[in-house]
Amino acid sequence: MISQQSIQQILSRIDIIEIIGEFVKLKKRGINYLGLCPFHNEKTPSFTVSSTKEIYKCFGCGKSGNTISFLMEHEKYSYAEALRWLANKYNVELEETEASPEVKQQQQVAESLYIINAFAQQYFSAMLFEQGEGSDIALSYLKERGFREEIIQKFQLGYCLSARDAFVTEALKKQYSLEYLQKSGLVTVRDERPADNYRGRIIFPVHNQSGKIAGFGARIIAKNDRAPKYINTPENEIYVKSRLLYGSYFARQAIDKMDECILVEGYTDVISLHQAGIENVVASGGTSLTPDQLRLIKKYTNNLTILYDGDAAGIKAAMRGLDLALEESLNVCLALIPDKEDPDSYVNKIGPTAFREFIKQNKKDFILFQLDILLQEAGNDSAKKAAAVNAIAETIARVDKAQDFTRQQDYIRQSSALLKVEEAGLNNLVNKYIRERIAKQENRAPEIPPLVSHGPDADPNQDSDILSLLQKDELHEKALVRCLLEFGIKTWEENRLVADHILEEYEDQQLVDDPSLASVIEMYKTWYKEGLQPGVKNFLYHEDRQLSAMVVGLVDFPYELSPNWKDHFDGKIFSREELYKEEIISTIGYLKLRKIRRLIEDNQKDLEKNLSSQEQMVFIQTHQHLKQLEMELLKRLGTVILK
Ligand code: UTP
Ligand code: MN
Repeated sequence: MISQQSIQQILSRIDIIEIIGEFVKLKKRGINYLGLCPFHNEKTPSFTVSSTKEIYKCFGCGKSGNTISFLMEHEKYSYAEALRWLANKYNVELEETEASPEVKQQQQVAESLYIINAFAQQYFSAMLFEQGEGSDIALSYLKERGFREEIIQKFQLGYCLSARDAFVTEALKKQYSLEYLQKSGLVTVRDERPADNYRGRIIFPVHNQSGKIAGFGARIIAKNDRAPKYINTPENEIYVKSRLLYGSYFARQAIDKMDECILVEGYTDVISLHQAGIENVVASGGTSLTPDQLRLIKKYTNNLTILYDGDAAGIKAAMRGLDLALEESLNVCLALIPDKEDPDSYVNKIGPTAFREFIKQNKKDFILFQLDILLQEAGNDSAKKAAAVNAIAETIARVDKAQDFTRQQDYIRQSSALLKVEEAGLNNLVNKYIRERIAKQENRAPEIPPLVSHGPDADPNQDSDILSLLQKDELHEKALVRCLLEFGIKTWEENRLVADHILEEYEDQQLVDDPSLASVIEMYKTWYKEGLQPGVKNFLYHEDRQLSAMVVGLVDFPYELSPNWKDHFDGKIFSREELYKEEIISTIGYLKLRKIRRLIEDNQKDLEKNLSSQEQMVFIQTHQHLKQLEMELLKRLGTVILK
């Protein structure tokens, strides 16, 4: 983990205009900067960046965030990668904190599992080539299917004997722990006796990126309707299916060289294509691609070619992978293998040269492929055609414009021609889908108006209806957190900072109900006590994106007073920065008032219970005392309510 100190150091150097300016052409407009939004299609700029608040917001599509979230969105970095990128840019040396005991424990388990898997692979491979069951049944099966020995060796295929516990007996003899053997999925305990899990199956080791064996796929040899065809390693510390792609370790160089990754479904497809000299192949294991798997591919290439069965299920499976692939800004092509075949059987049928030629001839751009299908289906039916236009607009909206503006424009142009609709209309429709998606993703906390009215448009009666304001509990809690983040390290009084004051009031009075807002305050407190001087930035740039989104919603976007209006008003205009003490006093005041009101209410309820007159006396006194406090507070808030 990167230490908080290092993060602070990076954050203190961030210049949002400089960073975003590397990707978007920004022009200064008043106090903000303006450019064409990299997240949707526009001709007039509405992408606004504030250098003082270090946030951006597009007033066209609604996307907003900070420098780090910009890098994460635009460059597809993880949080840590974005920090590293910034550290590199600003020459900040990163200090990594030591792993926590839990993390260390996990690493230890992972290490043990890798060792067990390495042992198991060697054992299973030996069994495959051993005289008897191994070579008679398993090896001859593989050879019959056309796999040559060198490819079997390269992929480290193996065989698990059909005896009940041949493997586990050997493993226990070698002192491997039964607990980890179970965790690895290689062994189960049945009737209190350990037994091999993959009995009588061909073993396909699944390698991770660095070539270590993370798990196994175990294929049954004889056809058996009651047993699953493949048994796969259960999820554990090292086998996380969503992050692994079968074959990626063997394919990475070829992917790099060819600048293309071919995606197939199964283990045997990968191995057969390798044998045919097509080495830039990975398999998803029959499920649709996950974001992590796509990111893995993207490290090597932007070009993904999906080779799936031509049956309806194959096309559907490919479609499911598409949306995500587009969002990761991959160029996706599709080639359908003729019905009843898969890449393994087909390459064995027609041979390597014809197979390559087949891919070349049949590879189609995925979006246009989809459009073809939709148009064919629609025929002359105008309702169906309208649905097709919508569907294609939605798909095009997923093409990551941030990375690939021209490609998105190309699709819009080509599709509008094919669909015979106006390009501008399709463009608008695409933008509509982009906006919708962004709104769904952001799901931000709503913005809140400043509590202290400033400027001449302030309505003197605005604060008078305290009761109704008090209904908006959340508003005041949010305002308190905002004050803490924005003004925490300003002076409150001599030798006391705003943070000291707010934290003290917060602790004494329990002013905040909302657990997520309370957690922000707690986090602030921890950092503050550690001697950091936390500010909005620490939260804005926090790894927890929900937290950071919430804080983006808390701070308001700076706006500019219209010049017109400045002409009419010639007094001094105060900013929130200048009036922060007033804002804090009134915010805390409101929250305290809320608390007193609640106490009064509770007291009232107690009073209504049947009580002895002596008990009643106590409650009445309490009531009077609370009322007194309420009046004082109201007076201090400078507000009188008539009642
Ligand atoms: P297939 O049924 O197409 O198998 O499943 P295959 O890879 O072509 O294997 P062969 O050629 O019949 O020997 C495709 C992939 O789906 C996963 C496996 O990863 C398989 O390679 N799968 C399939 C399972 O995980 N479990 C199953 O029971 C079946
Ligand atoms: Mn197959």
